Amino acid sequence: MSGRLMALWDWIDARMPSLAQEYRKHLAEYYAPKNFNFWYYFGSLAMLVLAIQIVTGIFLTMHYKPDANLAFGSVEYIMRDVPGGWIIRYIHSTGASAFFLVVYLHMFRGLIYGSYRQPRELIWIFGMLIYLCLMGEAFMGYLLPWGQMSYWGAQVIVNLFGTIPFIGPDLALWIRGDYVVSDATLNRFFAMHVIALPLALLGLVVVHLLALHDVGSNNPDGIEIKKNKDPKTGHPVDGIPFHPYYTVKDIVGAVVFLAVFCSVLFFAPELGGYFLEYNNFIPADPLKTPTHIAPLWYFTPFYTILRAVPPLFNSQFPGVLAMGLSTMILFFLPWLDRGTVKSIRYRGTLYKSWLAAFVIVFLLLGYLGTEPTTVWGQFGFDAFFLDTREIATWAGRVCTVIYFLFFFLMPWYTARDAARPVPERVTP
Ligand code: HEM
Repeated sequence: MSGRLMALWDWIDARMPSLAQEYRKHLAEYYAPKNFNFWYYFGSLAMLVLAIQIVTGIFLTMHYKPDANLAFGSVEYIMRDVPGGWIIRYIHSTGASAFFLVVYLHMFRGLIYGSYRQPRELIWIFGMLIYLCLMGEAFMGYLLPWGQMSYWGAQVIVNLFGTIPFIGPDLALWIRGDYVVSDATLNRFFAMHVIALPLALLGLVVVHLLALHDVGSNNPDGIEIKKNKDPKTGHPVDGIPFHPYYTVKDIVGAVVFLAVFCSVLFFAPELGGYFLEYNNFIPADPLKTPTHIAPLWYFTPFYTILRAVPPLFNSQFPGVLAMGLSTMILFFLPWLDRGTVKSIRYRGTLYKSWLAAFVIVFLLLGYLGTEPTTVWGQFGFDAFFLDTREIATWAGRVCTVIYFLFFFLMPWYTARDAARPVPERVTP
């Protein structure tokens, strides 16, 4: 640090020594395992995307109008007339998809290295709460442009709450603030999207990291580095200070990420309808239901699960229950996994096969959720006739069953998995 900066730092330190203490605890003297790999980029990238979303969100809010008569026009105004408005809006919409991509990869890292296992259960639970908040944030944000998909997507999802026995209709009414999605709904979703959920997200990220820094990071070998400390320094022998080693590593990750992010932003911000749906460029029309209503890609695995379960006594509730369960079950992962090792590197074939099956069905469920359920196409010849819609429905059902089996059978197959011995020290 230059002399002047150093003097400023000393001045602050004399008045607020806790700042330097926190800096040492969370950066300079936070000893992280020295074998972090590619999968360890996504935590810091999630923080970067969170910051991008908050900053661009603030600028969008300066020009957006949360009014059913003005919302769609105000977004068009941002895109065409506000200087730099188009790029801010596209950064925010691309950022939403990037957020989910990064968070899904971050969660997958947890699965492969058993990062949710004891003593990191709370980190995982805070992570899951972040994930739920993020889903709420994305869902409510999507209503704001007041396009056809905003309107009808919200209508479909809020109606799902209406299927809950006894309390459903009142609950749906309470969420909407009206009998249909309307100006009242737009106002409350705006309030939730711009202040309530971002605050909750920020708070959760703080406790997520505090919990992480209390127990220490896991690593690709699933070894507890705190168990092997240098008697002289008291630091883990397999650990290195987070700053400068991992701050520099994370900057590399951020640069590569931003390069990919910018290519999408500048060359395909709608990404063929996956990041911004074409129907959402049409203003909301409560009298005209679009033929194909589908959520954005990050919700489609759960949407397929919803559609895969047939109605019971004319109620969609079983599907809603399955969809809810498919996310909530992730909370219980730390207690479902009874394996003797954490990392995939030392797990046996049983766990590896189930994890591979889970990844494949999750991707398939995601793909199937983007496809319409209305007439989609038929192929075959007269004697042997196949309706592709039927195939898709059944594929969705099979994938849903495998998705749940991955969790329900986990206590059984992880306990029986033939694990390999874990080394004493981390490996490169
Ligand atoms: C806004 C979203 C999130 C942010 C900003 C965030 C941030 C971070 C950061 C910076 C780390 C440490 C660096 C790293 O290990 O990559 C971390 C670790 C971790 N996160 Fe998150 N996270 C988020 C969401 C989630 C979610 C949704 C989950 C799971 C449901 C989760 C589970 C974990 C776990 C288990 C660890 C410890 C990993 C290990 O030590 O191996 N996080 N998170």
